[in-house]
Amino acid sequence: MTTETAVDLKRYLAERRDEVEAALRRVLPGESEAPAPLSAAMRYSVLAGGKRLRPILVLALHEVCSSLTGAAADRRELVEAAASLELIHTYSLIHDDLPAMDNDSLRRGKPTCHVVHGEAMALLAGDTLQSLGFELLSSRPPGGAWAARRADAVLTVARAIGHAGMAGGQAFDLMETGHGHETADSVARLRRIHALKTGALLRASAELGAIYAGADPDLREIVVRYGNALGLLFQIADDLLDVTATPEALGKTPGKDSVQDKLTYPAVFGMDGAKRELERALGEAREAIAPIAGRAQILVALAGFAAHRSS
Ligand code: IPE
Ligand code: IPE
Ligand code: MG
Ligand code: MG
Ligand code: MG
Repeated sequence: MTTETAVDLKRYLAERRDEVEAALRRVLPGESEAPAPLSAAMRYSVLAGGKRLRPILVLALHEVCSSLTGAAADRRELVEAAASLELIHTYSLIHDDLPAMDNDSLRRGKPTCHVVHGEAMALLAGDTLQSLGFELLSSRPPGGAWAARRADAVLTVARAIGHAGMAGGQAFDLMETGHGHETADSVARLRRIHALKTGALLRASAELGAIYAGADPDLREIVVRYGNALGLLFQIADDLLDVTATPEALGKTPGKDSVQDKLTYPAVFGMDGAKRELERALGEAREAIAPIAGRAQILVALAGFAAHRSS
């Protein structure tokens, strides 16, 4: 990546992150809104920062796809629809950190939700962030003309985070935690975990951009292939960062995967092998969007960022 592209990407991300932050503040319950302890737990985790990659993907794919389809949308409504995925993602993080799951005490550079607000409020904050996410998806953009696209978005996200998506992937992850992984099909099991627990929501994020832009099935298929590759490389990078990053840079406690004996890319392929798999997935992401290459430079840059990020 040239320096010029890197600077542009930094600005691109910062501008969209600001839009998403503003949308999140508009839709979350106020700090003292009853039940206040639940409002506080929701706001604590959502407003703690984070890359906001899922809503940014919705916006980026919408920009790219609508440059091909000519479809327009009200920006404020579109950003609120995109922000739904940050609420749903944050729900998954709060639950992922619970003692019954990964038992983590640091997230986004702060003590985890259950450490500060207690397990009961953390569970409920996860529940209510998920339902608030679906409330946004089913109401933005408003109006009868958007009804079919809203329904498509709801279905796409519901499938991506359920039994055959994120939550199912979390179950497979936990089933693999705490014992050796030396069997013939460990690579297939590893790919399934990553495709589901992380890949499904990232792929759905990309797909939402295509849905709101009124993409035809061929364009949607390109976006799905890109999203799947991006989802895989994102979780490989997360596995690598768990080995290499500092708590300060990462905002979470590194080294947990090997302590808990998780089935990860470094565990199965070694560090060099995991880096090779990461580059291979990055190549797949680039290849997926080759048919729309003239419009999709930002998608190449976003995939590079997801692969080579430092947190
Ligand atoms: C962390 O997601 C959990 C994974 C799916 C790997 P992110 O790395 O996107 O976390 P934030 O949102 O930036 O905190
Ligand atoms: C979590 O994967 C994926 C989710 C659905 C939240 P990890 O357990 O590796 O995510 P981190 O490392 O805690 O962010
Ligand atoms: Mg986990
Ligand atoms: Mg975790
Ligand atoms: Mg991790």
